[in-house]
Amino acid sequence: MFNSMFSKQILATALFCLLFAGPGANGTENQPKKVDFKTQVRPILSNRCFACHGPDEGHVESGLRLDLVESATAPADSGAIAIVPGKVNESELIRRILSSDESERMPPPHFAAKLTELETQLIRDWISAGANYSKHWSFDSIHSLSPNSMVDLPTPSPFPDA
Ligand code: HEC
Repeated sequence: MFNSMFSKQILATALFCLLFAGPGANGTENQPKKVDFKTQVRPILSNRCFACHGPDEGHVESGLRLDLVESATAPADSGAIAIVPGKVNESELIRRILSSDESERMPPPHFAAKLTELETQLIRDWISAGANYSKHWSFDSIHSLSPNSMVDLPTPSPFPDA
């Protein structure tokens, strides 16, 4: 009797915590959703933008390649920066895909239709989360290894048998 009441109380407390401490407590509420470049963003850019801003060296408009982070985050021919990681409102790419001015909108209206709301939202979320072009792990690990993070090994004793 006592036991079952006790466990009901625990259950109620746990439920309460889940309901009220949920999204706020783990800090995800105001953070942009995680978006994966390779599977979610690249296909959109590839279908809609790469014809003119992609890997085809012979056809790169405005000096802007959206397949390369170095190019996408540097000033293009006009001086504007397509992608400013973390800053949706400063990213020329966002201004261009949302523009109601047909002479500015990307992709150009004669070439392809406007991006859908979902596509636009994915790109926005990706840029606000830092526009991470996922690199191969072997590149990432170079940056995360600093001498300070190495384990301190004991200095070998000059008298191994001592
Ligand atoms: C059919 C070719 C074509 C496609 C497809 C295209 N663009 Fe463009 N884009 C251009 C041209 C041409 C310019 C330069 C003229 C201008 O600034 O409008 C340009 C310019 C831009 C600029 C400004 C560069 C600068 O110098 O400031 C951005 C940003 C941009 N495009 C983004 C995109 C994005 C994002 C997509 C896909 C959603 C896209 N474009 C698809 C042809 C294209």
